[in-house]
Amino acid sequence: YGTGKVNDANHLEIGGVDTVQLAAEYGTPLYVYDIELIRERARGFKQTFEKLGISAQVAYASKAFSSIAMIQLVKEEGLSLDVVSGGELYTALKAEFPVERIHFHGNNKSEEELMMALEHHIGCIVVDNFSELELLEELCVFREQKVNILLRVTPGIEAHTHDYILTGQEDSKFGFDLLNGQAEQALKQALNSKWMNVQGLHCHIGSQIFQTTGFVLAAKKIIGQLKKWNEDFGYQPPVLNLGGGFGIRYTEEDTPIPASQYVEEIVREVQNELQGTNIPMPEIWIEPGRSLVGDAGITLYKVGSEKEVPQVRKYVAVDGGMSDNIRPALYEAKYEAVLANRPLDEVEETVSIAGKCCESGDMLIWDLPLPKSGRGDLLAVFCTGAYGYSMANNYNRIPRPAVVFVENGEAKQVIKRETYEDLVRLDLELKEIVKTK
Ligand code: LLP
Repeated sequence: YGTGKVNDANHLEIGGVDTVQLAAEYGTPLYVYDIELIRERARGFKQTFEKLGISAQVAYASKAFSSIAMIQLVKEEGLSLDVVSGGELYTALKAEFPVERIHFHGNNKSEEELMMALEHHIGCIVVDNFSELELLEELCVFREQKVNILLRVTPGIEAHTHDYILTGQEDSKFGFDLLNGQAEQALKQALNSKWMNVQGLHCHIGSQIFQTTGFVLAAKKIIGQLKKWNEDFGYQPPVLNLGGGFGIRYTEEDTPIPASQYVEEIVREVQNELQGTNIPMPEIWIEPGRSLVGDAGITLYKVGSEKEVPQVRKYVAVDGGMSDNIRPALYEAKYEAVLANRPLDEVEETVSIAGKCCESGDMLIWDLPLPKSGRGDLLAVFCTGAYGYSMANNYNRIPRPAVVFVENGEAKQVIKRETYEDLVRLDLELKEIVKTK
């Protein structure tokens, strides 16, 4: 049962806490995170680097799930942090995350966002394109402030779930093309700036990747260029950031490999490629999001209405849906689930789990084997910890659920449930709008 287990009352339990009690106390839908598992994953990444004797930074990609408590957990575990917007940066600052360990990503950071990053002296800015390089230079000149940067490069690799495809000419909105001279031009430009300290290169080849091949190939291509730049103008990067994207198991169709294996193979490839050169081993940075929090989170829903389409299927509707988990509708993502209030009951039927949004595509799970369920039963959907809350929305003016952390038999609410009042908080009356004209 993913991160949960079944207790004596035949209830699903997570982090030593009964999910039936959680639902009674905090309501549904409810995101529940087993934070011991997040800690374990975080330590796993760090220990792998330690065992290999490699200097590294493991940055949590906070787009997977950002909240003040989550960022504080990341701080407790001594990881670094990747943010991709002023909002994520603001959350990190509110959580008092050490600024020198914050890395700022994004293909279109605004002037305000860059200023915010400079004002707070964050660890590094991952520069994505020429116009950003120019804007950042202007802001540094204006503020008379130096900045650490990484250059994001696109190594011409498209990583897919079970495959990777070489694309000669990368067509991506992110990064400087590594192979057509763009990256070299950006590097020279940045090296010529007295305001920029080029710490190294960054690349991210995709998400939910189950093979190491793409990462290894990316490292190989980048180091190929580094060798050339070293010979041509003596550039040796202190840092190489190979991004995130390590796959996790949502259903039995997924076949992840241990996270440590990605790290080991990446490091081995970098070491091999650098052999025989005078380029020192750079610090290796990675940015896992999903693989740190994905399987640590579940969502609890209340079962409501049912509808039978004779000879075709039975729809069982729950009190959430694409407003709290848009991944099935957006990516046809698959999930597993059980009845949390009696997970060991005999499976009697195959049903399809519908959300409550006014949209036919709002289906959470097709063809799920379940015990006979009815109104009031509790459904637990596994592996919703990454890109669940962070992509939640208010479609149909549905309030966003609460988030609870559990550990050692204790539960702590870390995000409150939105109220109807919250939903209209920013709305103005028609009268006010007319008055301001
Ligand atoms: N670093 C960069 C530069 C990224 O763009 C991403 C994810 C990550 C790290 C973290 O990747 P992860 O380890 O979580 O796979 N909404 C989609 C996923 C989008 C990922 C975007 N970038 C989903 O729900 O599957």
